[in-house]
Amino acid sequence: MRTVKVSAPGKIILSGEHAVVYGHPAILAAVNFRLSITGDKTGKKAQIVSNVPIGSGMGSSAAYAVATSAYKLFLSGRSWNLAEISKEAYKLEKRHHGNPSGGDNTVSTYGGFLWYRKEAESLKTFTRLSIKRKLPKVFLINSGRPKETTKEMVSWVSQRYATKPRIRSLLFDIEKTTRSFLRFLLKEENPPFGELLTENEKLLEKLGVVSPGTKALVGQIEKMGGAAKISGAGGRTQGSGILLVYHPDTQKLLAFAQKLNLKIFRVKLGEEGVRIEKKS
Ligand code: PMV
Repeated sequence: MRTVKVSAPGKIILSGEHAVVYGHPAILAAVNFRLSITGDKTGKKAQIVSNVPIGSGMGSSAAYAVATSAYKLFLSGRSWNLAEISKEAYKLEKRHHGNPSGGDNTVSTYGGFLWYRKEAESLKTFTRLSIKRKLPKVFLINSGRPKETTKEMVSWVSQRYATKPRIRSLLFDIEKTTRSFLRFLLKEENPPFGELLTENEKLLEKLGVVSPGTKALVGQIEKMGGAAKISGAGGRTQGSGILLVYHPDTQKLLAFAQKLNLKIFRVKLGEEGVRIEKKS
């Protein structure tokens, strides 16, 4: 009997969430939180284990879709093919989300840092970025699980996009920030990393995808010298999912989280994409 364990990573979006649904670029990074599926051809015994937080902007559904496609591909006996895994995962994501950009399944498949664009339904392009600098230490703080699903958030933004001209210009402003992030990663410019995160967060707040409670938490982080942004679809009413957080003084940040009783995790960016962990 052919048995296998495959795993796929979650992701964070450094910049470009929501804008990427409308053809603007996004920079995504695979992270060191993974979902794995173990099983054999009988299917019934498949075991799923994950430490990717669910519904919090870390691409848990894409990690599931990618791991599932990879698992099926392996058990079918056909050769390992990343393009096929990502394509099949995108189909699953569509069933789940309606109108995904395809960025999440692409980064979960290929890993690393991606510059990603959905030019059209049949033309999705990406480049694996070769990062030219050592990135600052970044952390995750959960602002709370959003009440809204990704599908609801994407459709809410699309209603505003259709009726409010200023949303279009906001998406172009997000693209400018995404390009600043790109030049930062490629070491072509040296803007302070924290400022890029804050700039991106403020635009997402203007877009309306950050809840009042999350804005207040981000404000507190900024007040003590740090920076934070939501990653992914966000949430409007309660939590807005995972916050990507940076502070030049890590000890200060950890003390802050402890004082407020917030769970904080170190996150590594640019991790490996889908992979076979074990096979027989
Ligand atoms: O919340 P997540 O992890 O599903 O990320 C969604 C990212 C969006 O840009 C809002 C939607 C998309 O499909 O890219």
